[in-house]
Amino acid sequence: MRLLVVDHFADEAQALRSHFDARFADPRRATADRFVWDLWNVRDQYTALRTPAWEYFPKKTYDAFHQRLVWWGRRTLGCHDVSPPWLSCYVNGCEQRLHGDLPHGPVAFVFSLTNWSKRTFRGGETLLMRDEVLDFWRGFVSTRAVEEPELLDEVPARFNRLVAFDPRIPHGVRRVDGSMDPTEGRLVIHGWFVQPRPFIEGPLPEKALGDAIGEVTGAIGPVLQAGLPLAGLLSLGFTVTAAGRVRELRTLADTTRTVPEHAAGRRRLLAAARKALEKHAFPRRASQSRVTLPLVFER
Ligand SMILES: [Fe+2]
Repeated sequence: MRLLVVDHFADEAQALRSHFDARFADPRRATADRFVWDLWNVRDQYTALRTPAWEYFPKKTYDAFHQRLVWWGRRTLGCHDVSPPWLSCYVNGCEQRLHGDLPHGPVAFVFSLTNWSKRTFRGGETLLMRDEVLDFWRGFVSTRAVEEPELLDEVPARFNRLVAFDPRIPHGVRRVDGSMDPTEGRLVIHGWFVQPRPFIEGPLPEKALGDAIGEVTGAIGPVLQAGLPLAGLLSLGFTVTAAGRVRELRTLADTTRTVPEHAAGRRRLLAAARKALEKHAFPRRASQSRVTLPLVFER
């Protein structure tokens, strides 16, 4: 997985946006709540206005959004929590040049409150370096033109869009060229999904999951010990039926990476993990459970 894009993510998007617009509505009114923005400027790297999102918005609306985000991270990634998110506003000249985020969390997110379809600026896309660049010489063809679209994926910051991505991949924000009016800028809430750990919805006890993790670890151990260098997060989602059988096993998110010569080893490891889970007999319960199991590799 490089990135996941979820459009129409939050019912709270319009209320959050309206609050931002109201606070900037009259530039001649100097109320105390306007004085909360930091102009973050790291020369030749980052320039944007930013403020803690959890303090900026009305508590009830923000909490509803935050809970939605947290639960999405638990169900989709197996990440238990979200780092305290920032609200960032990009007006003319603001940008994030390419960088990797280490070690904030296994998955980064950007949630947009930008009026993207009515924007007056150019730029503002989230940029992600393409895999072909990270392994440039493998597919090198001397006659093929290489320009920015071949080097960078760009994701428009559409209103109410959540983008989750592997923050180790060099990424950035294309420089915004346009208005100095904050209400016409690129506006996003962003942060990291953190604390990967197993997550169960249903009557299955955590201890039962511990036994299954033991079996998965035993199954993938030999592949790792054979010298597979692997780093990243593999989140598996599955249902455990009332009878204790695994059903609907699927990969929810997979940021695991290795060097090209170990690609087969990586595939063997993923297959071994899935097989161990599918074979595992969980205890019987009165009803089924939904499980997200994140496995973290750091080699
Ligand atoms: Fe970043």
